[in-house]
Amino acid sequence: MLDALAEYRRSGRYGFTPPGHRQGRGADPRVRAVLGDALGCDVLAAPGVDDRLARGHVLGDAEELMAEAVGAESAFFSTCGSSLSVKAAMLAVAGGDGGLILGRDSHKSVIAGLVFSGVRPYWVSPKWDAARHFSHPPSPEAVREAWVRHPEAAGALIVSPSPYGTCADIGGIARVCHERGKPLIVDEAWGAHLPFHPDLPRWAMDAGADVCVVSVHKMGAGFEQGSVFHVQGDLVDRARLKLCADLLMTTSPNVLLYAAMDGWRRQMVEQGHELLGAALDIADYARSALSAIPGITVMHNELLGAEASHELDRLQVLMDVAATGASGYQVADWLRDNRRLDLGHSDHRRILATLSIADDKTTVDTLIDAVTAWRTRLTGTAAPEMRLPAPRELELESVMLPREAFFGPCQAVPIEQAPGRIAAEEVTPYPPGIPVLIPGELIDRAVIDYLRSGLAAGMNVPDPADPQLHTLRVVAR
Ligand SMILES: Cc1ncc(COP(=O)(O)O)c(C=O)c1O
Repeated sequence: MLDALAEYRRSGRYGFTPPGHRQGRGADPRVRAVLGDALGCDVLAAPGVDDRLARGHVLGDAEELMAEAVGAESAFFSTCGSSLSVKAAMLAVAGGDGGLILGRDSHKSVIAGLVFSGVRPYWVSPKWDAARHFSHPPSPEAVREAWVRHPEAAGALIVSPSPYGTCADIGGIARVCHERGKPLIVDEAWGAHLPFHPDLPRWAMDAGADVCVVSVHKMGAGFEQGSVFHVQGDLVDRARLKLCADLLMTTSPNVLLYAAMDGWRRQMVEQGHELLGAALDIADYARSALSAIPGITVMHNELLGAEASHELDRLQVLMDVAATGASGYQVADWLRDNRRLDLGHSDHRRILATLSIADDKTTVDTLIDAVTAWRTRLTGTAAPEMRLPAPRELELESVMLPREAFFGPCQAVPIEQAPGRIAAEEVTPYPPGIPVLIPGELIDRAVIDYLRSGLAAGMNVPDPADPQLHTLRVVAR
């Protein structure tokens, strides 16, 4: 795909086709000044990079090479992120009205998949570290119990790694599913790099998953929105998966995304071991230097073990700042305002620095220096208090199908009146994007107190109709 795009440009090909900017010719010079080369590469997939019948098999070749690179049986590219891929996998496995065993720590795109499809969720609780208010992926035992309760489910879906790099025992969970002849989908949005270094957690296909979806842009080096499905075995019908993806996919895929995924695949095959090895070394250096800052705990052992996670991606450097008295939101805002550094995730007590093959001692020293500077200047800053529910209080009873609650008659009520009502919308602190409220769940007071005090403390809740949460959409009585 990358070669075909280079050839398209080299040969001076021109399309009387979309995109109308014609490789930038028609774009405003101010747009061109910023987006220059990107416009030059933004051409039609077919007829363009390939001919009108895709006889050059350009995309097909890129996908086959990707499958070969990671050792999957097949791979499909998608250009709408894992948000699309995960929905397509859910539809392919559970159809329009089946049931799926799902970790309650699933990403909001999974919930969107339930709303679109009408699929019934059979929730599995994550493991909880109540003291740190932190969840870990569900255990194989919890998934087994879910199968005993819901043998009719079409399959199971687990997120691993989590956005914090914590991983489920996918091998154990796959065995539990396969004993029943049912497939396991792994949302591996944060794990595109895993196949390419043995010191990273085991990747889903090696551990026995049937389908996994990865976001190449997160831990790989693709453009935002590039995603790949990997499939193996015969529990998931590939043709059906492709058809389901086609239902959701754009008819105008951006070849920049395809080409970047293809080029990253080649980079990983040729140099992945070396590049990821260097990134892991730099992560160890960052972990040890950041741990030396008073009040900062770089989480490692706390994240692993029987009551926690199975494996950890060390490139996700999760720092607990609670002992400093500040919240993660405050630290993240300070780093952005004062050091021009952005962190992917922050919450009431943690910040997360995600490292990649792009990082080296220079970038990591900038982070260490900035966190040290924050620590020196902000001693004694008190974090706004948040009311944190006990894990039990966060696990709301699901009393209606998400689809019915979302699309049925609903009303917006003042948030104080929401406890006791059924949620008709999702409410998701972002990042990490794990919904606190899912359509169809019975709302309780503890969750409302959590969300309101969270908003006051700096939490970002972008998805409800009223993001300030003065009102909440609930199912009409
Ligand atoms: C666990 C998980 N799954 C799926 C997604 C969606 O991925 P994308 O942003 O590629 O659509 C995310 C995004 O953050 C995620 O964290």
